[in-house]
Parts: sequence; structure tokens; C-alpha cells
Amino acid sequence: MIFSGPDQAPIAVDRFPDWKARFGDLAGRLELEIGCGHGGYALAFGRLRPGRALVGIEQRKKFATTVAEKVERRGLGNVLILQGDGRLLAPRLFAAGSLAAIHVHFPDPWWKRRHVRRRLVDDRMSTLLLRLLAPGGLLDFRTDVERYALDAVERLEEVGFENEAGPGRFCEAPPDEIPSTREKRYLQTGQRVWRLRMRRRVAADQGR
Ligand SMILES: C[S@@+](CC[C@H](N)C(=O)[O-])C[C@H]1O[C@@H](n2cnc3c(N)ncnc32)[C@H](O)[C@@H]1O
Repeated sequence: MIFSGPDQAPIAVDRFPDWKARFGDLAGRLELEIGCGHGGYALAFGRLRPGRALVGIEQRKKFATTVAEKVERRGLGNVLILQGDGRLLAPRLFAAGSLAAIHVHFPDPWWKRRHVRRRLVDDRMSTLLLRLLAPGGLLDFRTDVERYALDAVERLEEVGFENEAGPGRFCEAPPDEIPSTREKRYLQTGQRVWRLRMRRRVAADQGR
């Protein structure tokens, strides 16, 4: 298994982890969460989506350890929490086209103009997320920062994602949405959340 932080040299891998050995048949419905924080989404996913598997990547060791311990205590065999930088780990853990969904919720606090360069969903990451998804796979992006939301919708459409809500538009929470830890707070306070549900086009749709 590969653990690496942003200041470590990239580690070359010649093959991906055997997800079938880890998750059994659920490996065919593998999802990724980048930045799971206190784990509200991952832990609820483990309970509410028994027919799917989730790998959560969290860069803060304390958060990752605490959530991983809860996963263990609750016996959630369909969830695995790893500590590291999702930008470095994701391309080393998953083959292109192998993920059914990727979840990125309230990804980082870099909302100021001078922080734009540090955003998780930049051009490179948008291309990577698209590449990792299977055709028809879902990118579930949520943010509370309007400028980030506007920037993300433009960027993601530009790299080729198909926006479920229509070009440039945001969607309502689907009825079965699992709220993340941060989102639960906003559901109580009424603070606005911008949601994007972006699909990797199936082959016949490419280039439309
Ligand atoms: C604002 S919190 C939101 C946490 C959670 N998604 C939620 O909605 O409650 C952002 C989280 O993303 C993590 N994060 C930011 N960039 C990351 C990266 N490149 N790889 C892994 N985790 C990252 C941070 O450490 C933090 O825990």
C-alpha cells in the first residue's frame, strides 16, 4: 500500500491494489471520497450503502485515524480510510475508468482569490477525476463557496464532464443524499450549498 504526503517524492507503482481482494464483489461498484474530514459521509455510506464500497482519502492524520477507528469499531467492511494527499494517491490507487463515483465535499478552505492556485479542483485534478471515472460515472461535488462553485462548474464542463443539471447549472440535493459532517451543519443553519453532479459521458455521447 502506498502512503505519501505532498512533500514526499512520488512513489512509482507498476500495479494497482487488488480491490477485489479487499472488497470482494463490491469492488465492481467502487467509489472514492477525497477529504473525508470527520467522516460523516463515509460512516453513513458504510451503513446506508451496503452494496457499494468506498475508499476515503484524508490528508490530516488525526482525522484519518479517528474515522478509520470508527469504521473498524462499527464493522463497516465496505469502507476503507487512507491517510494522504488525494491528488497524489488517487492516480496510484485506481486504474483509469475504474470508479463508479467520486465525492468531493467542501474540499478546502482556500476560497480567497490569492488561494486559487491551491484549490483541490484545479485543471489537472479535473482531468484526473474524469479519467478515473467509468463511463457514466458520477462526480459529486459540493461547496459552500459561491466563487469556487462557479469556477468548478466551468472547469469541469471544459474538461468534458456532462452536467446533470444542464450547462452552468447547480442541482438540488437528491432525496437520498447523504450529508457530510459539514453539510449537516448547513442543513441546520440554512447556509447555501452549491451542488454539482457531473457525469463522465458514455462513449456514444463523447464529442457531442
Ligand atoms: C472543509 S473539510 C470538509 C470535510 C468533509 N468533506 C465534510 O464535508 O465535512 C476539507 C477536508 O478535506 C481535506 N483535504 C483537503 N485537501 C485534501 C487532499 N488533497 N487530500 C486529502 N484530503 C484533503 C482536509 O484535510 C479536510 O479534512
